[in-house]
Amino acid sequence: MREIVLDEIDSTNSYAKNNIGELADKTVIHAMRQSSGRGRLNRIWLDLGLGNLFLSFVLKPSGTYKKVYANLTQYLCVCLSKVLEKYGVTSQIKWPNDVLVNDKKIAGILSEAIVSKSSLKGIVLGIGVNLNASKADLDKVKERHATSLNLEVNKSIDLNVFKKELLEEFFLDYDKFISQGFSLIESYYLSHNCFLHKNLQVQMFDKIETGYADRVNSDGELVLVKDKKELVITIGDIL
Ligand code: BTN
Repeated sequence: MREIVLDEIDSTNSYAKNNIGELADKTVIHAMRQSSGRGRLNRIWLDLGLGNLFLSFVLKPSGTYKKVYANLTQYLCVCLSKVLEKYGVTSQIKWPNDVLVNDKKIAGILSEAIVSKSSLKGIVLGIGVNLNASKADLDKVKERHATSLNLEVNKSIDLNVFKKELLEEFFLDYDKFISQGFSLIESYYLSHNCFLHKNLQVQMFDKIETGYADRVNSDGELVLVKDKKELVITIGDIL
Protein backbone atom coordinates (compact mmCIF):
# COMPACT_ATOMS: atom_id res chain seq x y z
CA MET A 1 0.00 0.00 0.00
CA ARG A 2 1.17 3.54 -0.76
CA GLU A 3 -0.24 6.68 0.71
CA ILE A 4 -0.39 10.27 -0.51
CA VAL A 5 -1.39 12.83 2.10
CA LEU A 6 -2.57 16.24 0.89
CA ASP A 7 -3.33 19.34 2.95
CA GLU A 8 -6.26 20.36 0.79
CA ILE A 9 -7.77 19.25 -2.49
CA ASP A 10 -11.07 19.74 -4.30
CA SER A 11 -11.93 16.05 -4.02
CA THR A 12 -9.75 13.01 -3.29
CA ASN A 13 -11.81 11.06 -5.84
CA SER A 14 -11.18 13.72 -8.51
CA TYR A 15 -7.46 13.81 -7.67
CA ALA A 16 -7.27 10.03 -8.02
CA LYS A 17 -9.24 10.07 -11.28
CA ASN A 18 -7.13 12.86 -12.78
CA ASN A 19 -3.90 11.04 -11.91
CA ILE A 20 -5.07 7.48 -12.45
CA GLY A 21 -2.34 6.70 -15.00
CA GLU A 22 0.47 7.52 -12.58
CA LEU A 23 -1.01 6.01 -9.42
CA ALA A 24 -0.13 2.44 -8.48
CA ASP A 25 -2.63 -0.19 -7.43
CA LYS A 26 -3.55 0.12 -3.71
CA THR A 27 -2.58 3.77 -3.40
CA VAL A 28 -4.52 5.74 -0.81
CA ILE A 29 -5.18 9.46 -1.24
CA HIS A 30 -5.90 11.21 2.04
CA ALA A 31 -6.76 14.91 2.26
CA MET A 32 -7.02 16.94 5.46
CA ARG A 33 -9.51 19.31 3.85
CA GLN A 34 -11.73 18.85 0.83
CA SER A 35 -13.27 21.87 -0.87
CA SER A 36 -15.59 20.18 -3.42
CA GLY A 37 -16.33 16.71 -2.12
CA ARG A 38 -18.67 14.72 -4.32
CA GLY A 39 -21.36 12.25 -3.28
CA ARG A 40 -23.58 9.73 -4.96
CA LEU A 41 -26.37 10.79 -7.34
CA ASN A 42 -24.67 14.14 -7.99
CA ARG A 43 -24.82 15.23 -4.37
CA ILE A 44 -22.09 17.19 -2.64
CA TRP A 45 -20.13 15.94 0.36
CA LEU A 46 -19.53 18.75 2.81
CA ASP A 47 -16.19 19.25 4.52
CA LEU A 48 -17.08 19.44 8.22
CA GLY A 49 -13.61 20.59 9.22
CA LEU A 50 -10.19 19.28 10.17
CA GLY A 51 -10.27 15.94 11.95
CA ASN A 52 -12.83 14.35 9.63
CA LEU A 53 -11.76 11.69 7.14
CA PHE A 54 -11.62 12.23 3.36
CA LEU A 55 -9.92 9.37 1.62
CA SER A 56 -9.87 7.51 -1.71
CA PHE A 57 -8.49 4.09 -2.56
CA VAL A 58 -6.99 3.64 -6.02
CA LEU A 59 -7.55 0.03 -7.03
CA LYS A 60 -6.37 -1.70 -10.18
CA PRO A 61 -7.44 -5.33 -9.79
CA SER A 62 -7.52 -6.04 -13.56
CA GLY A 63 -7.76 -4.36 -16.95
CA THR A 64 -11.33 -5.47 -17.57
CA TYR A 65 -14.40 -4.75 -15.47
CA LYS A 66 -15.80 -7.55 -13.31
CA LYS A 67 -19.15 -7.56 -11.56
CA VAL A 68 -17.54 -7.93 -8.14
CA TYR A 69 -16.03 -4.45 -8.43
CA ALA A 70 -19.51 -3.01 -7.98
CA ASN A 71 -19.59 -4.69 -4.56
CA LEU A 72 -16.50 -2.89 -3.29
CA THR A 73 -18.65 -0.19 -1.73
CA GLN A 74 -20.40 -2.91 0.28
CA TYR A 75 -17.05 -4.38 1.28
CA LEU A 76 -15.85 -0.97 2.45
CA CYS A 77 -19.02 -0.30 4.43
CA VAL A 78 -18.56 -3.63 6.25
CA CYS A 79 -14.92 -2.69 7.00
CA LEU A 80 -16.09 0.63 8.41
CA SER A 81 -18.78 -1.02 10.51
CA LYS A 82 -16.15 -3.38 11.99
CA VAL A 83 -13.86 -0.45 12.87
CA LEU A 84 -16.77 1.37 14.54
CA GLU A 85 -17.28 -1.74 16.69
CA LYS A 86 -13.79 -1.15 18.12
CA TYR A 87 -15.11 2.18 19.43
CA GLY A 88 -18.07 0.44 21.03
CA VAL A 89 -20.44 1.69 18.34
CA THR A 90 -22.92 -0.62 16.65
CA SER A 91 -23.90 0.48 13.17
CA GLN A 92 -26.59 -0.45 10.70
CA ILE A 93 -26.10 -0.91 6.98
CA LYS A 94 -28.57 0.60 4.56
CA TRP A 95 -28.33 -0.84 1.05
CA PRO A 96 -26.09 -0.50 -0.76
CA ASN A 97 -23.40 1.15 1.34
CA ASP A 98 -24.72 3.65 3.85
CA VAL A 99 -23.49 3.19 7.39
CA LEU A 100 -25.89 4.52 10.02
CA VAL A 101 -25.52 4.96 13.76
CA ASN A 102 -28.77 5.42 15.66
CA ASP A 103 -30.49 5.99 12.32
CA LYS A 104 -28.12 8.80 11.33
CA LYS A 105 -25.58 8.72 8.53
CA ILE A 106 -21.96 8.72 9.73
CA ALA A 107 -20.16 8.13 6.43
CA GLY A 108 -20.53 8.23 2.68
CA ILE A 109 -18.93 6.04 0.03
CA LEU A 110 -18.53 6.85 -3.66
CA SER A 111 -17.04 4.42 -6.18
CA GLU A 112 -16.04 5.44 -9.69
CA ALA A 113 -14.69 3.19 -12.43
CA ILE A 114 -12.33 4.85 -14.89
CA VAL A 115 -12.62 3.29 -18.32
CA SER A 116 -10.74 4.42 -21.39
CA LYS A 117 -10.63 2.80 -24.84
CA SER A 118 -12.71 -0.05 -23.42
CA SER A 119 -10.13 -0.96 -20.79
CA LEU A 120 -10.45 -0.41 -17.06
CA LYS A 121 -7.81 2.06 -15.87
CA GLY A 122 -8.79 1.72 -12.25
CA ILE A 123 -11.45 2.05 -9.60
CA VAL A 124 -11.54 5.00 -7.25
CA LEU A 125 -13.28 4.13 -4.01
CA GLY A 126 -13.81 7.21 -1.87
CA ILE A 127 -15.00 7.42 1.70
CA GLY A 128 -15.83 10.31 3.96
CA VAL A 129 -16.33 9.61 7.66
CA ASN A 130 -17.57 12.14 10.17
CA LEU A 131 -15.12 11.70 13.03
CA ASN A 132 -14.92 15.08 14.73
CA ALA A 133 -17.87 17.23 13.71
CA SER A 134 -19.88 19.60 15.85
CA LYS A 135 -23.67 19.43 16.14
CA ALA A 136 -23.86 22.81 14.39
CA ASP A 137 -21.76 21.51 11.47
CA LEU A 138 -23.95 18.45 11.12
CA ASP A 139 -27.01 20.66 10.80
CA LYS A 140 -25.49 21.94 7.55
CA VAL A 141 -25.99 18.49 6.03
CA LYS A 142 -29.33 18.90 4.36
CA GLU A 143 -30.20 15.55 2.76
CA ARG A 144 -30.67 13.46 5.89
CA HIS A 145 -29.85 13.27 9.59
CA ALA A 146 -26.14 12.94 10.12
CA THR A 147 -23.94 12.04 13.06
CA SER A 148 -20.25 11.94 13.88
CA LEU A 149 -18.21 9.41 15.86
CA ASN A 150 -17.04 11.95 18.47
CA LEU A 151 -20.66 12.71 19.34
CA GLU A 152 -21.54 9.01 19.62
CA VAL A 153 -18.69 8.26 22.03
CA ASN A 154 -18.43 11.68 23.70
CA LYS A 155 -14.75 12.19 23.03
CA SER A 156 -12.62 13.45 20.19
CA ILE A 157 -11.28 10.90 17.75
CA ASP A 158 -7.67 10.60 16.64
CA LEU A 159 -7.91 10.87 12.85
CA ASN A 160 -4.64 9.04 12.16
CA VAL A 161 -5.46 6.14 14.49
CA PHE A 162 -8.89 5.75 12.91
CA LYS A 163 -7.43 5.90 9.40
CA LYS A 164 -4.84 3.23 10.25
CA GLU A 165 -7.56 0.95 11.63
CA LEU A 166 -9.71 1.41 8.54
CA LEU A 167 -6.83 0.81 6.11
CA GLU A 168 -5.76 -2.32 8.00
CA GLU A 169 -9.30 -3.67 7.99
CA PHE A 170 -9.71 -2.90 4.28
CA PHE A 171 -6.48 -4.50 3.08
CA LEU A 172 -6.82 -7.51 5.40
CA ASP A 173 -9.30 -9.28 3.12
CA TYR A 174 -9.27 -7.13 -0.01
CA ASP A 175 -7.59 -9.71 -2.28
CA LYS A 176 -9.85 -12.44 -0.93
CA PHE A 177 -12.90 -10.26 -1.57
CA ILE A 178 -11.88 -9.66 -5.19
CA SER A 179 -11.73 -13.39 -5.81
CA GLN A 180 -14.65 -14.47 -3.62
CA GLY A 181 -17.07 -11.56 -3.98
CA PHE A 182 -20.13 -10.63 -1.95
CA SER A 183 -20.41 -14.06 -0.28
CA LEU A 184 -17.37 -13.17 1.85
CA ILE A 185 -19.26 -10.39 3.63
CA GLU A 186 -22.82 -11.58 3.17
CA SER A 187 -23.50 -12.75 6.72
CA TYR A 188 -22.03 -9.63 8.36
CA TYR A 189 -23.79 -7.38 5.85
CA LEU A 190 -27.18 -9.00 6.37
CA SER A 191 -26.90 -9.22 10.15
CA HIS A 192 -26.36 -5.44 10.26
CA ASN A 193 -29.02 -4.48 7.73
CA CYS A 194 -31.79 -2.03 8.56
CA PHE A 195 -33.74 -2.12 5.28
CA LEU A 196 -34.97 -5.65 4.65
CA HIS A 197 -38.61 -6.69 5.02
CA LYS A 198 -39.89 -3.14 4.79
CA ASN A 199 -41.74 -1.22 2.12
CA LEU A 200 -39.23 1.10 0.52
CA GLN A 201 -38.83 3.87 -1.98
CA VAL A 202 -35.63 3.57 -3.97
CA GLN A 203 -34.30 6.40 -6.04
CA MET A 204 -32.57 5.49 -9.25
CA PHE A 205 -31.12 8.32 -11.31
CA ASP A 206 -34.30 9.56 -12.94
CA LYS A 207 -37.04 7.59 -11.25
CA ILE A 208 -38.26 6.28 -7.93
CA GLU A 209 -39.29 2.63 -7.49
CA THR A 210 -41.40 1.43 -4.59
CA GLY A 211 -41.71 -2.09 -3.27
CA TYR A 212 -41.13 -4.58 -0.49
CA ALA A 213 -37.45 -5.21 0.27
CA ASP A 214 -37.48 -8.99 0.04
CA ARG A 215 -33.79 -9.87 0.02
CA VAL A 216 -30.27 -9.11 -1.12
CA ASN A 217 -29.20 -11.62 -3.76
CA SER A 218 -25.84 -13.35 -4.00
CA ASP A 219 -24.50 -10.46 -6.12
CA GLY A 220 -25.37 -7.93 -3.42
CA GLU A 221 -28.28 -6.51 -5.42
CA LEU A 222 -31.53 -5.47 -3.76
CA VAL A 223 -34.60 -7.50 -4.70
CA LEU A 224 -37.81 -5.52 -4.38
CA VAL A 225 -41.21 -7.16 -4.76
CA LYS A 226 -44.02 -5.14 -6.27
CA ASP A 227 -47.35 -6.53 -7.48
CA LYS A 228 -45.94 -10.06 -7.07
CA LYS A 229 -43.11 -9.23 -9.48
CA GLU A 230 -39.46 -9.08 -8.57
CA LEU A 231 -37.37 -6.07 -9.39
CA VAL A 232 -33.60 -6.45 -9.07
CA ILE A 233 -31.89 -3.16 -8.29
CA THR A 234 -28.18 -2.78 -8.91
CA ILE A 235 -27.74 0.96 -8.38
CA GLY A 236 -29.97 3.17 -6.28
CA ASP A 237 -30.50 4.97 -3.04
CA ILE A 238 -33.12 4.07 -0.44
CA LEU A 239 -35.09 7.18 0.44
C1 BTN B 1 -22.39 9.75 -0.52
O1 BTN B 1 -22.83 9.36 0.55
O2 BTN B 1 -23.12 10.33 -1.34
C2 BTN B 1 -20.95 9.50 -0.86
C3 BTN B 1 -20.03 10.53 -0.31
C4 BTN B 1 -18.57 10.23 -0.58
C5 BTN B 1 -17.64 11.28 0.01
C6 BTN B 1 -16.19 10.92 -0.11
S1 BTN B 1 -15.14 12.02 0.79
C7 BTN B 1 -13.72 11.37 0.02
C8 BTN B 1 -14.09 11.10 -1.43
N1 BTN B 1 -13.91 12.27 -2.25
C9 BTN B 1 -15.05 12.74 -2.74
O3 BTN B 1 -15.18 13.76 -3.45
N2 BTN B 1 -16.07 11.96 -2.34
C10 BTN B 1 -15.61 10.86 -1.51
